[in-house]
Amino acid sequence: MQISFKAVASIATLLVSANARKIFIDNDGLSALQVLFPIAAGHEVLGVSTSFGSASVVDGAGQAYDIFETYNLSACIPRYIGARQPLLRTYDTFQAWESLFGELVWQGAFSPDYEDSYSWSNFTYNDSMAGAVALIEAVKANKDTDPVLVYAAGMMTTVAQALSIYPDLAKDAAGLYIMGGYFDNQYAQATGDAITIDINTDINLIQDPEAAQIVLTADWDEIMIGGNVTNYLVPSQKLYDILEEKAGGLEEIRSNPYFADVSSLLGTGNYTENSSEETLPFWDEVVSAYMSWPELVWETTNASVAVDTSYYSPFYGSLRLYNPEWAPSKGYKVANATIVDKIDDDKFYGLLVDTFFKNWTQYCEVHGPVELIL
Ligand SMILES: *[C@@H]1O[C@H](CO)[C@@H](O)[C@H](O)[C@H]1NC(C)=O
Ligand SMILES: *[C@@H]1O[C@H](CO)[C@@H](O)[C@H](O)[C@H]1NC(C)=O
Ligand SMILES: *[C@@H]1O[C@H](CO)[C@@H](O)[C@H](O)[C@H]1NC(C)=O
Ligand SMILES: *[C@@H]1O[C@H](CO)[C@@H](O)[C@H](O)[C@H]1NC(C)=O
Ligand SMILES: *[C@@H]1O[C@H](CO)[C@@H](O)[C@H](O)[C@H]1NC(C)=O
Ligand SMILES: *[C@@H]1O[C@H](CO)[C@@H](O)[C@H](O)[C@H]1NC(C)=O
Ligand SMILES: *[C@@H]1O[C@H](CO)[C@@H](O)[C@H](O)[C@H]1NC(C)=O
Ligand SMILES: *[C@@H]1O[C@H](CO)[C@@H](O)[C@H](O)[C@H]1NC(C)=O
Ligand SMILES: *[C@@H]1O[C@H](CO)[C@@H](O)[C@H](O)[C@H]1NC(C)=O
Repeated sequence: MQISFKAVASIATLLVSANARKIFIDNDGLSALQVLFPIAAGHEVLGVSTSFGSASVVDGAGQAYDIFETYNLSACIPRYIGARQPLLRTYDTFQAWESLFGELVWQGAFSPDYEDSYSWSNFTYNDSMAGAVALIEAVKANKDTDPVLVYAAGMMTTVAQALSIYPDLAKDAAGLYIMGGYFDNQYAQATGDAITIDINTDINLIQDPEAAQIVLTADWDEIMIGGNVTNYLVPSQKLYDILEEKAGGLEEIRSNPYFADVSSLLGTGNYTENSSEETLPFWDEVVSAYMSWPELVWETTNASVAVDTSYYSPFYGSLRLYNPEWAPSKGYKVANATIVDKIDDDKFYGLLVDTFFKNWTQYCEVHGPVELIL
């Protein structure tokens, strides 16, 4: 992975996308760029729901609350609570499956050692409308004028719930973007260390395989899968240095509450490869970036896809790819999807830096950034 300083410096202003879209995001937790990228590109985020998955329900909601406080987005982007549990998977069946087929490095909120960081009293939230219902309302309200893009960045449970209530959801939306759906990763899993195995394991689909199969094989006009591509865009010392330099030093980042999310990205400020949470790839952010700026996408592949839903299978919850010509056509439901293989890395890192160094706190009033005061 290489970042050219030139590319980072040359993106002086954010690229404002010609075609503003309406987007609904569901995720098992949240990081700032996932919501900032779409608004930076000029799109409208109609809602963000947070669901169980890698984080518990309370932690996902708490993370989203903190980000919305930092960037002052609550007045115009509603937050919802999405799925509180998978459709069928439970803690017990998850653990029993692991004892049959091997432990996962990352078990998310199903980990026996998982402890909540937040409690419900840490923040305010409004759960009068479930995430799935809010998603349906957003899709219905815009279906004839400006169909909504759905970004399912965690488990696909909330979208599956919405499809069960309102099966026309897929047809009435513009399309589906997912984070997850790795393939060709058995070799990496067999030969890698724990972090490599972790990075090549698809918890988003594994935690709720039935929901993933329901959602992927619904009647979307467009399905964009951010599988492998999301794994190669990772932090680096060079990126950390650029962020620190732009802020005028690490201390400035530490002491300015506006940079809370940059600070947590930097960890200690020293990039230590493969060794901690801070070095994990920009998974969800990568999908958010090319959803927001489609011109970032360089290479794609068309394939038919389905999710293994056989419990008694080591691949329960894994994505299965087929050549569309040879995919099953009866019985086992498959869908045609676009897999993103390569994006413009330099531009991605440039947009990351640029987006963090804009002042979004007046977004709800001015629908864009205002001057950042350092
Ligand atoms: C939640 O509130 C408790 C009690 O005030 C505090 O100790 C804890 O750090 C808070 N958690 C988060 C993640 O803010
Ligand atoms: C809570 O959400 C509901 C449904 O979206 C909305 O009608 C209501 O105004 C919200 N309440 C507050 C206090 O934001
Ligand atoms: C997908 O990821 C695996 C593991 O990193 C890699 O070995 C494989 O070549 C990738 N496949 C594609 C098509 O990118
Ligand atoms: C970062 O690395 C440098 C050089 O190895 C070291 O001097 C410094 O103490 C480290 N900083 C932190 C916060 O770990
Ligand atoms: C980190 O992991 C990658 C991929 O497995 C490997 O190529 C690299 O050598 C590792 N780096 C360190 C410092 O261990
Ligand atoms: C994928 O399929 C679409 C629609 O059938 C087609 O326009 C596009 O060229 C195909 N892309 C690739 C990379 O084959
Ligand atoms: C997928 O595309 C193939 C041809 O590329 C087509 O024959 C098939 O009907 C499509 N399948 C679905 C589920 O749309
Ligand atoms: C937050 O946004 C609201 C609504 O746009 C605005 O009235 C308020 O001044 C902003 N607060 C800060 C601290 O910027
Ligand atoms: C963002 O802009 C607002 C309004 O001009 C200002 O009060 C605030 O200090 C700015 N925040 C940062 C981090 O620049």
